[in-house]
Amino acid sequence: MKNIALFASGSGSNVENIIRYFRDDTNFNFPLIISNKQDAYVHERAKKLGVPSFFYKKERFENGEVLAFLLKNQIDFIVLAGFLLKVPHNIIQAYPDKIINIHPALLPKFGGKGMFGSHVHEAVVANKETESGITIHYVNENYDEGQIVFQAKCEVLPADTAEDVAAKVHELEYRYFPEIIGKIV
Ligand code: GAR
Repeated sequence: MKNIALFASGSGSNVENIIRYFRDDTNFNFPLIISNKQDAYVHERAKKLGVPSFFYKKERFENGEVLAFLLKNQIDFIVLAGFLLKVPHNIIQAYPDKIINIHPALLPKFGGKGMFGSHVHEAVVANKETESGITIHYVNENYDEGQIVFQAKCEVLPADTAEDVAAKVHELEYRYFPEIIGKIV
């Protein structure tokens, strides 16, 4: 049995999808959700799912409090599902090759600081890309630069808006992220 912590900053639709996917799987346990946003919708989803969620502000990630909390709860693996804060050194060091992230584009394109959520899809449309997709990768000290484990693509049509691309990308996330988590962990 592996204990996996989910980190999220926003709506948490991936968090919900992951928890539902593994609900009856005794090999994977998702005992807690951590967010750096107090008012993130992920806390509402957590309540409905019956999984405890915790808010920690940025400083408490950086001063080791979050790490202490993860260790106290015997967390084996961390999954970033729409988590927009840079994971600090202390956590990366304590969880080498045990943190993965999902990025809503085909890295190395459209990655790096400021490239998250809708900003990514807007940049894809502005650049007249003909495809986009998802990238699941290990997390290291730099934004979006850890080893890539999985990518899936979708078509971007000339008439597509950023919202259209976001919908296609979300669909890929829901379809593949839980499956890849199961394989990696
Ligand atoms: C997802 O599309 C995820 O790929 C993206 O944030 C969204 C969160 O949606 N992550 C990043 O942009 C990370 N750089 P959700 O809160 O509904 O799961």
